[in-house]
Amino acid sequence: DADYLHSLVNWNQGSIGPEIFISDEIYKLEQERIFGRSWLFLAHDSMIPNPHDFFATYMGGDPVLVVRQPDGSVKAFLNACRHRGMRVCRAEEGNTRSFMCTYHGWTYDSAGKLQSVPNQEDAYFGKLSLEDNGLIQVAQVDSYKGMIFGNFDPTAPPLHDYLGDLKYYIDGWVDHAEGGIEVLPGAIKWTINANWKLAAEQFAGDTYHATTTHLSSLLSFGPGFDAKDGAHVSLREGHGESFLFERHTRFEDDPLGQYNEEKRRIARERVGDRADMVANFNAFPNFSGLPGSANIRVWHPKGPNKFEIWSFTVVEKNAPEEAKRAQQISASFTEGAAGVVETDDGENWGMISGVLEQGYQARKMAWNYEMGLGTEREHPDFPGEYHDSFFGEAGQRGFYRRWLEFMTTEAWPVIPPEERNGTADAVTAGSN
Ligand code: FES
Ligand code: FE
Repeated sequence: DADYLHSLVNWNQGSIGPEIFISDEIYKLEQERIFGRSWLFLAHDSMIPNPHDFFATYMGGDPVLVVRQPDGSVKAFLNACRHRGMRVCRAEEGNTRSFMCTYHGWTYDSAGKLQSVPNQEDAYFGKLSLEDNGLIQVAQVDSYKGMIFGNFDPTAPPLHDYLGDLKYYIDGWVDHAEGGIEVLPGAIKWTINANWKLAAEQFAGDTYHATTTHLSSLLSFGPGFDAKDGAHVSLREGHGESFLFERHTRFEDDPLGQYNEEKRRIARERVGDRADMVANFNAFPNFSGLPGSANIRVWHPKGPNKFEIWSFTVVEKNAPEEAKRAQQISASFTEGAAGVVETDDGENWGMISGVLEQGYQARKMAWNYEMGLGTEREHPDFPGEYHDSFFGEAGQRGFYRRWLEFMTTEAWPVIPPEERNGTADAVTAGSN
């Protein structure tokens, strides 16, 4: 119940009970209250450009199909047949005018409407209503700068409100080139035996781990960084971002050096300082990215102690093919399933979960989230609760604050206007 969750999540004192990373009941409640009500990342426009293109993904544990409609709009519906719940589509992506269930052959069109069933006349005697047996629609689908999100809750506020101040930071890496971004084909997907929140909270603010966890890879990339190099923000909507303003060159003999220089110059004209941001962010609850490293990812929950990482490479839409290819190689070298950075993180998450799974005393021990408590301030340029350090745990505290609100309220947890930072809308006004 709510009191129990409040006793575990003392975000404002920097203390979290790890039961939230292992409990079955809490996981089940998350499916209803977090994944059933949040705006969840589904796909990018560039992944389904043509009519009848589809991409199969998940919203929480539920399989969902995201489909481009002939009129250019996007619909999303449950990938589960109305007859016995079989998946109506077994492919990961493609283009089709209809989805035929392979169990008994019910067939749906690309809007999710039931088109035909075998033996409609001689078995159903014409009494089955095609109208009433369409696929379950995701209540709201909307997009921001090409990123498509869905929400199962018809009462949830619009996506733009939900993203709130994160829009300012998203704009920094989406608007830096004319034509915006494109997601390259081929998501890399793999499984980690840990709770999805360990990954989400890390991307919301844990840059602190990098200099220890990723020490060997950082050394091979060039100079490391320390806390004074950057800053981090916690956004009232539950999102978090850490950033710094220098780009460590991964490949010094980069044949695209000149292109990159020119690109940087144009980007600075378009989005100012944000052009030089190397960052990590998490959009509440499970959509993360590494602006500067050309990577976005979703943490799909698969049980209290299991999640899948779906990792996508992002490039400038108008970049030369050569540059896109180089970016893809670089991204899989570091952030892919076998990437030199990625494997370090997975090992931490898996080992923590092993301790929680087997341990009893360890499950009672609250974890420490105190870093940067009391150092928040406002910054004229960066919306959100701002902290003058690249390392900090404000993003994580903000994440759990929002998590607790979702988990303990019946109605959709609207943020009172006076609690919102409110600067992003002013900054981005007219840019969408
Ligand atoms: Fe789909 Fe029977 S389960 S047609
Ligand atoms: Fe990491």
